[in-house]
Amino acid sequence: MKDLKTKYGPWAIVTGASSGIGKAFSEHLAKSGINVVAVARNKDNLVKLQSYMESKYAVKVKTIALDLSESNAAMRLGELTSELDVGLLINNAGLQNYGLFSENNAVDELKLVTLNVSSPMQLSHIFVKRFKQRGKGGILFTSSGFGYQGVPFFANYAASKAYLITLAEALNVELKPFDIDVTVISPGYTNTPMAYSAPIDWRKLRFPQQQPELVARIGLNALGRKATVVPGLVTKFSVWVNRLMPRSWPPRLLAILIGYARIGEYSNKDKFGTHSN
Ligand SMILES: NC(=O)c1ccc[n+]([C@@H]2O[C@H](COP(=O)([O-])OP(=O)(O)OC[C@H]3O[C@@H](n4cnc5c(N)ncnc54)[C@H](OP(=O)(O)O)[C@@H]3O)[C@@H](O)[C@H]2O)c1
Repeated sequence: MKDLKTKYGPWAIVTGASSGIGKAFSEHLAKSGINVVAVARNKDNLVKLQSYMESKYAVKVKTIALDLSESNAAMRLGELTSELDVGLLINNAGLQNYGLFSENNAVDELKLVTLNVSSPMQLSHIFVKRFKQRGKGGILFTSSGFGYQGVPFFANYAASKAYLITLAEALNVELKPFDIDVTVISPGYTNTPMAYSAPIDWRKLRFPQQQPELVARIGLNALGRKATVVPGLVTKFSVWVNRLMPRSWPPRLLAILIGYARIGEYSNKDKFGTHSN
């Protein structure tokens, strides 16, 4: 792996650092000698991460307990890190709402947009300015394979992840002249608590499960090399094959697959039998 510390040190911010892919990002960075600003809501989990990483690696960890689904949280994070020489921002925290969009709670859907879209956008805006001043930097976004098409039952989540892909692709080009690297990683089914948060048994679809450590390694390795990266052959293939189909097909196909893997009340016949067009 390239010398992350020289390129993106001495400090990196990781949102959603206390679990899953964010924890794996934090550990990779610590292994590379980069100090980590670990952000999540639960302070106890952050403190556990801090003592684990500071005892294992020769780095400092600063913990910031913040709910990034609140509208002023990104600005607050900018303020709380203004004294640190941050060279890398990892916009990783995300939330997934499952269910029929029409029946989901509107407040929950707005929280999703604030956490998955507004906060990464605001943080990127704040740090791009700082990176321009310091002459280099990097931004890594965690999107999802779901961001490459509309996904029934995960409509708002998939749309939020599409935003990140489009934003990152554009920033990758815009910021190259300033030596600021931008990459978006779009994992598939990954072994973290989030993967079990919806009543879907993904194993029924035989999707291979990815490990967060590998996803994080692939993301950091792609930074500075690629605008977009999709880990895992199956997810890579599913994203690629979309290009060969009419845009209306992948959402319909996903509705059928999710209907098959769903544990619980709705059925494909009830919800999709008369509504495909
Ligand atoms: N797992 C998958 O299959 C999969 C697939 C594709 C993409 N992804 C994406 O990967 C990213 C990481 O997810 P994960 O799978 O690693 O999930 P995870 O293990 O559940 O971790 C989520 C992290 O985000 C933090 N977080 C959640 N809500 C937050 C909020 N409102 N403000 C601040 N921090 C918050 C959590 O800590 P607190 O609860 O303490 O806040 C935790 O540290 C997400 O963007 C997700 O969309 C995951």
